[in-house]
Amino acid sequence: MKLKNCCAALALALTSVVVNAGVGEGQELYEAYCIVCHGGIGEGQAMGKSLVDTQANRMSDEDLLAVITDGRAGTGMAAWGNSFSDEEIFDIATYVRVLQGKPGLSLGNEESGPSDDPMVIAGETLFNNKAGCVTCHTYNEQGGSVGPALDGLSARLEDSAIERALLNPSADIVEGYGAKIVEQNDGTIVSGRYRNDSELAVQIQSSDGRRWVTYFKDRVASISDADESLMPDTYATLSASEQEQLMAFLKSL
Ligand code: HEC
Ligand code: HEC
Repeated sequence: MKLKNCCAALALALTSVVVNAGVGEGQELYEAYCIVCHGGIGEGQAMGKSLVDTQANRMSDEDLLAVITDGRAGTGMAAWGNSFSDEEIFDIATYVRVLQGKPGLSLGNEESGPSDDPMVIAGETLFNNKAGCVTCHTYNEQGGSVGPALDGLSARLEDSAIERALLNPSADIVEGYGAKIVEQNDGTIVSGRYRNDSELAVQIQSSDGRRWVTYFKDRVASISDADESLMPDTYATLSASEQEQLMAFLKSL
């Protein structure tokens, strides 16, 4: 996916008046008809809201199809059911899910549908904002890579183990996600998630998770395990009700 500039989007709108869109043409239709108001990656524009925010992410597949088909009375969101076949709307909705980082629609599978429990929604908002969890963890393929992906967490860990991981991150460090301390010959010390890629060099993940920084072993004095987890104990600083919300969200994963 790449950001389209205004003129590319316009050119597309002019050239792709699709009459019989088949499966998979959701992207083309989206780019021709929806981009103007919702943006090239669903980020939202002056005339239309984001399609990748928490609200749109949480929409059930049924509601997503319904809002595209029927529009929202009294807003700029038209009823596209008048212009497109059910199949085309299905394709467009699938593409909206792709923009949200999801595999597509999961109709008929209520279990995997997004939750509408207000506790879970509040917890997800905390996760993605104030509590800062998303900088290090992914779910639904979005987020950082310093910590493990949290999809399917509740199937993997008992509730009590989830709580323990949050309250005391260093007690039980997930295999492969521990930190190492690298001391260089010049005395500088770096620590972070560690990869031992070769005989010549070690790599330490930068604290924002974005880069792996290479340190050549001929300049490294020592490498040792860190006792501390890379995960901060932010959870302990949240209020009781915020903790409850965050736990509700984690248990929904
Ligand atoms: C003229 C501008 C415009 C166009 C074009 C447009 N939309 Fe919208 N859309 C809006 C506005 C404004 C809203 C918010 C309505 C509201 O306030 O509830 C919206 C809402 C939505 C929502 C609900 C999001 C939410 O979180 O509640 C979806 C989904 C959506 N649009 C998808 C589409 C798709 C798919 C297309 C292309 C077929 C499209 N829109 C074309 C303006 C537009
Ligand atoms: C600076 C990066 C960072 C931040 C921020 C962070 N974590 Fe972590 N998290 C980690 C790392 C690294 C691990 C694995 C090491 C460990 O077990 O302590 C981990 C482990 C976990 C685990 C255990 C996962 C498993 O598979 O056993 C859970 C649950 C978790 N984090 C949730 C959270 C939540 C919720 C937040 C926000 C309050 C958060 N993390 C914030 C880095 C982070």
